Amino acid sequence: MTRKVYVYRSFERFWHWLQAILIIFLAFTGFEIHGGYSFFGFEEAVAYHNIAAYLFITLIVFAIFWHFTTGEWKQYLPTYKNLTAQMRYYLWGIFNDAPHPTKKTVLRKLNPMQKLTYFGLKVLVIPIMVSSGILYILYRYPQRHEIRYLNIDSLEIIAIIHTIAAFFLVSFVIVHLYLITTGETLTSNLKAMFTGYEELEDDDYGNKNLEEKK
Ligand code: HEM
Repeated sequence: MTRKVYVYRSFERFWHWLQAILIIFLAFTGFEIHGGYSFFGFEEAVAYHNIAAYLFITLIVFAIFWHFTTGEWKQYLPTYKNLTAQMRYYLWGIFNDAPHPTKKTVLRKLNPMQKLTYFGLKVLVIPIMVSSGILYILYRYPQRHEIRYLNIDSLEIIAIIHTIAAFFLVSFVIVHLYLITTGETLTSNLKAMFTGYEELEDDDYGNKNLEEKK
């Protein structure tokens, strides 16, 4: 039996969508700065990239606060349990109508591969992106006004690190877009991130108990 369960709370959905918009916009302006194409023009692309970056940092501060005050950070702790089963599912099972190897519940809404990927994003890719971006800002703009906050000879290493992390993040977004379609139905994951609700199977310690407590 399935029931409609409230999985994603309002701040979580707001954070998810604003983060998605900001990352796509940062990638679009960032790769223009990198020199791939011309849309806004270099100067404007830099200005917009900086505004979006400050919004992104503000959002991250609120998200960190939310994750710790709600205890939701625990959902992201990686686990080996069912990790290979999940990998096998994505590589093989999914194309052969195999059932999802992990059941989603409110208390365990991420599968082992999601846990690992999101954990890596939170502790590695996004911190590298933000810190290299901040170093970029500290180096370039003060220097234009003859103030040297960051005394290094060249921006090259920072630019390379920032760009590699950007490629990681863009690859993640592409894979993520595909994985959105691999829920119980083609659109169930997407709908859940808009409404907060998802049809989930009854579960002895998760969905059933939480629903009955409401
Ligand atoms: C808080 C986060 C971020 C900050 C503070 C930041 C800051 C910056 C700054 C200051 C620049 C250099 C602009 C200039 O040349 O004057 C830059 C370049 C760039 N940014 Fe970001 N950025 C952030 C996030 C992102 C994200 C999320 C992406 C992509 C997913 C991205 C992609 C790029 C790319 C590709 C460049 C061009 C690098 C180059 O070739 O020099 N940035 N960023």
